[in-house]
Amino acid sequence: MNTHAPSAPPDGNQIVTGLGGFTLSKRALITGVTGQDGSYLCELLIAKGYEVHGIIRRSSTFSTERIEHLYHDTHLPGVRLRLHYGDLLDASCLRRLISECKPDEVYNLGAQSHVRTSFDQPIYTCETISLGTLNLLEAIRDYRDYTGKDVRLYQASSSEMFGNTREVPQSESTRFYPRSPYACSKVHAFWQTINHREAFGIFACNGILFNHESPRRGETFVTRKITRAATRIKLGLQETIYLGNLDAQRDWGFAGDFVQAMWLMLQQHDPDDYVVATGESHSVREFLNEAFGYLDLDWQPHVKIDPKYFRPTEVNVLQGDASKARNLLGWKPRVRFNDLVRMMIDADMKLAQQEQTLASAGFAVRQGAGHAEGVAVS
Ligand code: NAP
Ligand code: GDD
Repeated sequence: MNTHAPSAPPDGNQIVTGLGGFTLSKRALITGVTGQDGSYLCELLIAKGYEVHGIIRRSSTFSTERIEHLYHDTHLPGVRLRLHYGDLLDASCLRRLISECKPDEVYNLGAQSHVRTSFDQPIYTCETISLGTLNLLEAIRDYRDYTGKDVRLYQASSSEMFGNTREVPQSESTRFYPRSPYACSKVHAFWQTINHREAFGIFACNGILFNHESPRRGETFVTRKITRAATRIKLGLQETIYLGNLDAQRDWGFAGDFVQAMWLMLQQHDPDDYVVATGESHSVREFLNEAFGYLDLDWQPHVKIDPKYFRPTEVNVLQGDASKARNLLGWKPRVRFNDLVRMMIDADMKLAQQEQTLASAGFAVRQGAGHAEGVAVS
């Protein structure tokens, strides 16, 4: 962990560092702070003058790479990010952290978030998402009942909940038809959040976010798997990428834009649920075209289909209608599809160049995303 001057994050897309002399106005607690969205949200909140508390899971290795540039020795003055060990499955720990951190806002981003993996680990996925969200809601409810202090909650709901719907585009009024243990668990968490709002008066909002990506996206999600592989192929570090369904369509936006919507939801007078999306949908094939095309490569000779990446039940088309977020929150995406792909390729090219330098100096190089997915069946 960083104890001195901040270093740049892996992708160089730094918004703000974790030290500053601002007057602290609000406190936020984030679950899933080490994830893609957690890191962008953390930057956003620190830039807004928040004191940010993040929950990290104890593991034998640190998974704090995405927030390393924000973390400073807590003995230094003006520290804005504090990390606490915890887990969504540990209800007593969540209660203790809420009483200790006294947050104004809680952002529940923690989850087993990989859809394909959820078919292999349905119970664990359900525990982290459904039970984890309920643990958090109950901790907030009890804290409010004992102290009288209201805590606002953002729940990371997902466009996966629309699943097999035939309605395109999908909005807040579209019926859910979940198609994976992940999506079923998110539907439960969605309704549990609404029930705590209606039954107990908790200020709790669901953000129904469509796919959002970035150079910090986990390497087993399809976009990053492609940008990692394409750049490695360009430099001769890899020959082939193994993929599943190339016809699936997703509404891909930029994670840095989407965390703004999360924050905006908790600044409103009343709690509500919002779809957050770009409104544009593209297939995995189109993503391949754009990514390899930007590198002047033809993807066809490099892509092989491996059926293990097919899902037992697939979500074919996701395209969001974010009119409500635009009209009520004033939110709109800034980064469009082409720019997103290029941003990810540019960042992964730097990573591939570093790997190439190491390889030519005789060092063992970390395997690319295709291999990572080959290990776990995701
Ligand atoms: P991500 O990169 O996979 O991050 C997931 C985070 O959850 C990590 O920090 C992980 O910690 C943490 N976590 C996992 N299990 C946990 C547990 N039992 N207790 C506490 N923390 C736990 O996911 P993301 O892309 O940032 O997404 C953030 C949230 O939004 C997730 O809930 C996801 O389901 C939801 N969502 C994402 C998208 C999208 O397109 N990205 C769209 C809609 C909804 P470790 O670092 O220790 O693994
Ligand atoms: N991961 C992966 N790997 N997906 C592949 C592959 C592959 O090799 N080949 C094709 N795909 C297809 C999947 O079948 C899916 O239709 C699409 O690419 C996108 O897959 P992912 O990138 O894994 O994302 P996702 O849409 O399943 O889930 C993400 O978005 C959800 C929001 O809609 C995750 O971030 C979820 O947590 C999030 O809720």
